[in-house]
Amino acid sequence: KADQRSPQLRTATAEVVDGPDYARGQQGEYLTTAQGARLYDTDHSLKAGERGPTLLQDHHLREKITHFDHERIPERVVHARGAGAHGVFRAFGAAEKVTKAGFLRRGVETPVFVRFSTVLGSRGSADAVRDTRGFATKFYTAEGTFDLVGNNIPVFFIQDGIKFPDIIHAAKPHPDREIPQAQSAHDTFWDFVSLHTEATAHTLWNMSDRGIPRSYRMMEGFGVHTFRLLNDDGETSLVKFHWKPRLGVHSVVWEEAQLINGFDPDFHRRDLADAIEAGAYPEWELGIQIFPDTPEQMFEGIDLLDPTKFVPEELAPVQPIGVMTLNANPTNFFAETEQIAFHPGHLVPGIDVTDDPLLQARLFSYLDTQISRLGGPNFGQIPINRPHAPVNDMFRDGMHQSAVHSGVAPYKPNSLDGGCPFMAGAEVGAFVEVPVALEAATKLRGAPATFDDHYSQARLFYSSLTVIEQDHVAQAYTFELGKCYEQTIKERALGVIANIDPDLCARVAAGLGLPAPQPSVPFDNAPMPSSALSQIGAQWPV
Ligand code: HEM
Repeated sequence: KADQRSPQLRTATAEVVDGPDYARGQQGEYLTTAQGARLYDTDHSLKAGERGPTLLQDHHLREKITHFDHERIPERVVHARGAGAHGVFRAFGAAEKVTKAGFLRRGVETPVFVRFSTVLGSRGSADAVRDTRGFATKFYTAEGTFDLVGNNIPVFFIQDGIKFPDIIHAAKPHPDREIPQAQSAHDTFWDFVSLHTEATAHTLWNMSDRGIPRSYRMMEGFGVHTFRLLNDDGETSLVKFHWKPRLGVHSVVWEEAQLINGFDPDFHRRDLADAIEAGAYPEWELGIQIFPDTPEQMFEGIDLLDPTKFVPEELAPVQPIGVMTLNANPTNFFAETEQIAFHPGHLVPGIDVTDDPLLQARLFSYLDTQISRLGGPNFGQIPINRPHAPVNDMFRDGMHQSAVHSGVAPYKPNSLDGGCPFMAGAEVGAFVEVPVALEAATKLRGAPATFDDHYSQARLFYSSLTVIEQDHVAQAYTFELGKCYEQTIKERALGVIANIDPDLCARVAAGLGLPAPQPSVPFDNAPMPSSALSQIGAQWPV
């Protein structure tokens, strides 16, 4: 099979794809044990006589079976099913005015690895289910690794990370029967989202055609949260990241999704790998919406720290800052796609986080879960996770340590190993947190009033859809709620849908054979004019 990668990408990813670790122990004229002793037979165990019993002293048998017994690692607690690819990101330079990040300077090319995923299904589940899709990108920049860990939907179910275990427990399979794998047939999911109404907009996006994409190559990606950028002059701005597929945004319809899941549960991962192998490299443009970094962190009445809200593109156009091309399939699914570890806290100078309470919890969660998923604290040494920038941390030892560190004990200040590197000017080129002033605050558990509106953006999205797309939404709610056993949950969910759109509610209620409730909140947030909705179904103007 010809290597389709450009010479540049081949060099850039050489360490990851072609490094000596990859081929270790898997080539040569003879088989050996893990210790390198040559084997003469791997087909028969050592026995006392031809018909046994098998002897405990057969080291090759025990080593082979023992290694096999430990081949599996835990799947991700969410986003367990995924597919990945290598590629390259080339910056247009348009972001130079707002960030000093080196990889966003004009013409700079940076190797990347992307992992697309479903959220709820297990590692062996089907691809074309109704679900949110993960869109996680690792940029191996010269200043350290930057991870943009996003989704294909611009809003999220919850406003505070403390609710993440709740939404996932409600949406994952029932603990007793382990069914289902997606949001269908799920009393607990509909119970949660009808009680926790900040989930309304995300649930609506899931019920729309966005919940059943045609291909990973035809999905948008969103960083969801607002991030803070810092430029060379020390000025800051707030931004939201967007990926726009050059192939446009496409979905399948529900009946197609059912057939696809039956005929080819690997439809999306096959589609991605086949396209790349055929040289039809998928491309996305990265863009940013830019907002002034004011103390309120609000824009046009939208709280930029509320991850259940997006900002319509007419209010803040998405400005293209670079293009990503995926042009090489993984050599080994386990080594790369399975073992890659993303983290929203992997930042580079010029890009910082905000106080979005969902993002803040994510900053804790990913490293914590990866310590158990990848067996200890040294998974950064796995080839796919190695930064392409020089690493000089002070970490030592721990499970699966593969480095042989030398020198004096790792502590600073330290006068024995040539002096202390933390000298005047050390912050030049370093990641320095943007000094953000905090309000004089009292400790409390609660949410700001600016997080209170749970419906107007759902209305905005629904009213932007074409008649056919609205039909699909009505059918999706009717189908999914029709699988609930508890009538009270269906009735409560209808109450939420009434607050999105009374006509939608009437259609779903008729489909369920239930009365349609009246909206419980006033429609005081006038929907945006349809011209403000370029976000939805957007084609990138290339
Ligand atoms: C995994 C996105 C919120 C915890 C992932 C992955 C994506 C993602 C794309 C898959 C990464 C991969 O392919 O390896 C998001 C987005 C969120 C969100 C866009 C909200 C805007 C949260 C929150 C938490 C969380 C609030 C916890 C407080 C996790 C965990 C994993 C994960 C534990 C598995 C990571 C691993 O084992 O490697 N998330 N997530 N996520 N997410 Fe999130």
